[in-house]
Amino acid sequence: MNLLLAINVFIPLIIVGILLTITLLLIGANILLGGNKMKTVTINKDKALPVKDTDTLLNILSNNKIFIPSACGGKATCGFCKVQVIKGGGDVKPMEEPFLSDQEKQDNVRLSCQVKVADNIEIAIPESMLNAQEYHCEVINIEDLTYDIKLVQFEFIEPKSMSFKPGQYAQLKVPGIDIIRAYSIASNPSMTHKIELIIRMVPKGKATTFVHRALQLGDKVIVTGPYGNFYLQEDSDRDIICIAGGSGKAPIRSILHYLKDQGMPRKVKYFFGARSKKDLYYTEEFVELAKEYPNFEYIPALSDPLPEDNWKGDVGLITEVVDKYSDDLSDSEAYLCGSPGMINACIEVLNKHDISSDNVYYDKFS
Ligand SMILES: Cc1cc2nc3c(=O)[nH]c(=O)nc-3n(C[C@H](O)[C@H](O)[C@H](O)COP(=O)(O)OP(=O)(O)OC[C@H]3O[C@@H](n4cnc5c(N)ncnc54)[C@H](O)[C@@H]3O)c2cc1C
Ligand code: FES
Repeated sequence: MNLLLAINVFIPLIIVGILLTITLLLIGANILLGGNKMKTVTINKDKALPVKDTDTLLNILSNNKIFIPSACGGKATCGFCKVQVIKGGGDVKPMEEPFLSDQEKQDNVRLSCQVKVADNIEIAIPESMLNAQEYHCEVINIEDLTYDIKLVQFEFIEPKSMSFKPGQYAQLKVPGIDIIRAYSIASNPSMTHKIELIIRMVPKGKATTFVHRALQLGDKVIVTGPYGNFYLQEDSDRDIICIAGGSGKAPIRSILHYLKDQGMPRKVKYFFGARSKKDLYYTEEFVELAKEYPNFEYIPALSDPLPEDNWKGDVGLITEVVDKYSDDLSDSEAYLCGSPGMINACIEVLNKHDISSDNVYYDKFS
């Protein structure tokens, strides 16, 4: 009888007691960490965001319609979400270290996805970053450019237009799986009511498998942007070298559309590296551009042409071809886009031809 009473009455009471204690401890810890306290995120000394919940700085900014580049969606693997923290924010976390230079550490630059806002914080964000917005879009065209590259056109529904610099990128939020990926804008910046992205299939890649296998005409998606410091330097009159591989053609195409609209005022040499003929696309577009403007030269090169390609153009690694066609580059500027390996190797070649490192711009598609 006594044992039954103990089981029926005391054990449930003990369990309730333990649960109550854990809840009180969690509430206490939350209060100690600033969870329920109102705090303020002050941006560039003039904008103050009141914040109740403890969250990452990246999420708080995004919830307040301030869109910081975040190609990995907050997993500390892209290093794009840097902001300068003037006051607060706690210590740099180990996963931030590889992305921060010594100078950035001195300036207290942080990855905003790794900064927990538990107290008041003051940050500085370049004005250019504040231009990024969230766009609700509709997919209005999907086209195969090669066996593994698609062109996708997105029309802006709300807001209705995006202003961007030729070379900048947008971020696509993949519906359903809530991941974010960066894609360079391939279209003419004068066309502001829609953008074109060139998306290459990455085997087992989450976003590209979605785009290549599931995305349909009429689908509604969310894009944010524009982002990035890789864009045409409009106030320069230097000769231009463009180098791209694979989907790296996207931002270069936007730059060339822009220059064409200006009447191609600067000398441009555009090197495009591919394996074989099946990896080439938009050849016609650039060959026609070269015919129309003597200032523009298009040099596609194949590293591994097939016999049936009957290829009469340049053969070799893109580095070898750039080397072959380049003289003194001390007064040129270069725009490079593609894999990190290709970009690093091309920069070495450009250096050999005395380009100034201040005049080399690149976006590594990593
Ligand atoms: C600034 C910027 C601009 C970019 N612009 C473009 C663009 O215009 N067009 C475009 O197609 N891509 C572009 N990318 C790359 C793009 O953001 C994605 O990384 C890529 O589409 C793969 O995404 P995923 O989700 O399919 O692959 P994930 O699921 O992220 O990756 C799957 C696997 O593939 C590897 N991987 C990831 N990316 C690549 C890659 N590019 N090549 C080979 N292996 C890879 C990963 O290490 C991983 O092992 C850009 C990247 C950056 C940073
Ligand atoms: S969002 Fe990629 S590192 Fe922060």
